[in-house]
Amino acid sequence: MENVVIVGAQWGDEGKGKITDYYAEKSDIVVRFQGGNNAGHTIELNDEKFKLHLLPSGILREDKQAVIGNGVVVDPGVLLNEIEELESRGIDTSNLVLSDRASLIMPYHKAMDELEEKLKGNLKAGTTKKGIGPCYSDKVARFGIRVVDLYNKEALKDKLETVVPIKNKIFEAYEEDYHWDVEELYQDHLEYGERLKGYVEDVSVLLDRAIKNGRNILFEGAQGTHLDIDHGVYPYTTSSNTTAAAASLGSGIGPKNIDSVIGIVKAYTSRVGTGPFPSELEGDLGDRIREKGGEYGTTTGRPRRVGWLDLVMLKYSKRVNSLTEIALTNIDVLSGLDEIKICVGYKHEGETIEEFPADIEAMYEYEPVNKTFKGWEEQDWQEISEKGYDYLPDEVISYIDFIEESLDVPITYISVGPKRDQTIKR
Ligand code: GDP
Ligand code: IMO
Ligand code: MG
Repeated sequence: MENVVIVGAQWGDEGKGKITDYYAEKSDIVVRFQGGNNAGHTIELNDEKFKLHLLPSGILREDKQAVIGNGVVVDPGVLLNEIEELESRGIDTSNLVLSDRASLIMPYHKAMDELEEKLKGNLKAGTTKKGIGPCYSDKVARFGIRVVDLYNKEALKDKLETVVPIKNKIFEAYEEDYHWDVEELYQDHLEYGERLKGYVEDVSVLLDRAIKNGRNILFEGAQGTHLDIDHGVYPYTTSSNTTAAAASLGSGIGPKNIDSVIGIVKAYTSRVGTGPFPSELEGDLGDRIREKGGEYGTTTGRPRRVGWLDLVMLKYSKRVNSLTEIALTNIDVLSGLDEIKICVGYKHEGETIEEFPADIEAMYEYEPVNKTFKGWEEQDWQEISEKGYDYLPDEVISYIDFIEESLDVPITYISVGPKRDQTIKR
């Protein structure tokens, strides 16, 4: 039995979907444990591209169970659409399980997300506007509606009758023209419940049984370490804990059941959303990496900000996640550059800073301290993937060695293209 957590080590979009799909071959169950359809996980299989938002990447392998845990916030309409879309492309989704304890994103959460972003001025995170923050807020404030409520008509009605008038009053106070009707929401949600019925289970019980039977569980993180609500660049974060410990809380297994944690690290840094970004590259070089890497949001289509790899961020990620391994992705995207840099510290008022700060606002003034590496030419990455690690150019190996030595975490997978087989296991 081996239970593995995959987490993004940067600001999301590191290639978690690709590596989860690759690693899932060795697993029996793939579990999403936090976030919602703010995530966009891309998997390329043969000549097909799949963009998953709520469904765990294990859904593409018919012999694996794909599980949505209690820590996920679920927009039921989005989930049903995603299931339908995959079914229409010939993917069997009968291997899906949805936790009865997951929180539901309601229409008023999406409207509130949109509205609050407008009101927040410089504090806005540039959210995906999928209702993630307002849904987690309601969960914590105990105003939330959960999957299980869809199957208790009285409780659902009672909750909606209590919560919806409060939401309507809030929108009125904001002088916004929104009004939700209890009966309409009630009927819509009874229908969602009916359509989702076959998937709903107690996930903690299911995973406990799997562990006792020696099955391998893979936990698929969404977003990235520096978007974590506690450990990220608050307030420019998402609203869930995205770090490895959340795998336990968000699925209902104890922390002792986790054996290893793989951090997914993109060979450079990308960021969709606002906030400080010391190693950011603006101008032609940034544009070149963005275009070559196809760095446009999977969920919102927004251009991603890009910059050099940042070791200060990654040392922090190693610590807060207990990373045991790293999968390094997008090495191919950096090809053709004369020089490649890695940010090894920050400079501020004559001082060098090597630990990621809590004062995020102060970071706007930080200058990166970079170490320069010789670049590498474009390669036949497919051929190198087939031949193995030793066939990587020397410059790539030097780059990998430096990251590995600096972080003292083994880099066990190198991804050199978006497809499943463009992965080198070391
Ligand atoms: P996730 O949110 O972490 O799953 O990542 P996204 O899917 O949002 O973004 C990663 C993008 O990079 C997707 O378009 C992937 O298909 C692609 N990708 C993943 N690994 C590699 C790689 O090694 N090389 C290249 N060129 N693209 C990759
Ligand atoms: P995956 O799983 C990159 C960012 C948003 C915004 C902040 C808050 O594909 O890596 P939210 O809608 O969550 O309230 O937005 O978090 N963000 C992501 N950035 N990848 C993601 O997911 C993200 N999910 C949220 O851009 O800055
Ligand atoms: Mg993504």
